[in-house]
Amino acid sequence: MQNEDPRAGTRVGGPPEMAVARRGAGGQGVSPSRAWQLWRDKRGRVSALRIAALALLLGPLAKALAETDAIAHGARPINELIHRSGFWALVFLGITLAVTPFRHIARYGNLVDVRRMLGVGAFCYIAAHLGLFIADQSYDLGKVVHEITHRVYLVIGATAWIGLAVLAATSTDGMMRRLGGLRWRRLHQLVYAIALLALVHYFQQTKADVTVPVFVSGLFLWLMAYRVLAWWRDSHALSTSSLVALAMVVAALTFAGEAIGIGIAFHVSPLTVLSVAFDVDAGVRPGWQVLAAGLAVAVLDAACARWRSRDPRRLKAVAAE
Ligand code: HEM
Repeated sequence: MQNEDPRAGTRVGGPPEMAVARRGAGGQGVSPSRAWQLWRDKRGRVSALRIAALALLLGPLAKALAETDAIAHGARPINELIHRSGFWALVFLGITLAVTPFRHIARYGNLVDVRRMLGVGAFCYIAAHLGLFIADQSYDLGKVVHEITHRVYLVIGATAWIGLAVLAATSTDGMMRRLGGLRWRRLHQLVYAIALLALVHYFQQTKADVTVPVFVSGLFLWLMAYRVLAWWRDSHALSTSSLVALAMVVAALTFAGEAIGIGIAFHVSPLTVLSVAFDVDAGVRPGWQVLAAGLAVAVLDAACARWRSRDPRRLKAVAAE
């Protein structure tokens, strides 16, 4: 399904998430001597967007370095770092998946230029996650394999890890050429299954409070539901009212998922859990947070539509079409 999308100048069903960024105008790639200069775009120009993405990726690392003392004096420093690296890997995986919707909603097609960087960044955090786990097992590889193969949540995490490694390894322009566009795209669609496995791994290792995992899952659900809706409509140009409806449906599913999950885990009625969602003393449940995030996206869409319709360059371009 390849459909022109006037909002971002791209096609529906373009390359998915751990993506090889599109080549620059005229089809030239960046010269090999400049390939390591991650702050330069495909044309070799310094890119504010790339610098912002790099800063975003390095943020959690810088925070951990700034908190070295507190982490070192904590109960289990390596375990703390395992948790941080796993969490940020999942967050960056989500941000990578968010590039496609947001380049359409913000009418900013250039966003795709940082998709590969974000995906590979997510993999760097997940590589650190496994490295720290190995360090926690005193670098005893036999013990590492024994632990992983004897715990279901680690088997699931390891499967997701291998999947991400394959996607990161095939994220180069050369690999895309070798595999061919269609095969490469099919392979990279694995990212959706990998994200699901990562969420299961996250839930399984959570001991008590599932508020954050439920919220994160709600956001992933929104990202998937957006794609299903865009595919069904055959266009990423979803109207603001569709985005409002999407936010409400995904929030309702988040409430239901949380109620059913907690109901099963603690042998209580899901309706009892659901009633807590309307109890102000119980805090803001993840369903409300997901609703707020979804509605914020709809507001952003409306604001961008209004702003774009007033942009004289945009109006000129539309008139010229
Ligand atoms: C071989 C692969 C993996 C191993 C050995 C592994 C191991 C672990 C361990 C030991 C924990 C902490 C559990 C505890 O303290 O009880 C953890 C937590 C976590 N892992 Fe993994 N993991 C792997 C793959 C992944 C992948 C691929 C992702 C996501 C992309 C991921 C995301 C997370 C998250 C989000 C947490 C919880 C972080 C938090 O508490 O905020 N892990 N993992």
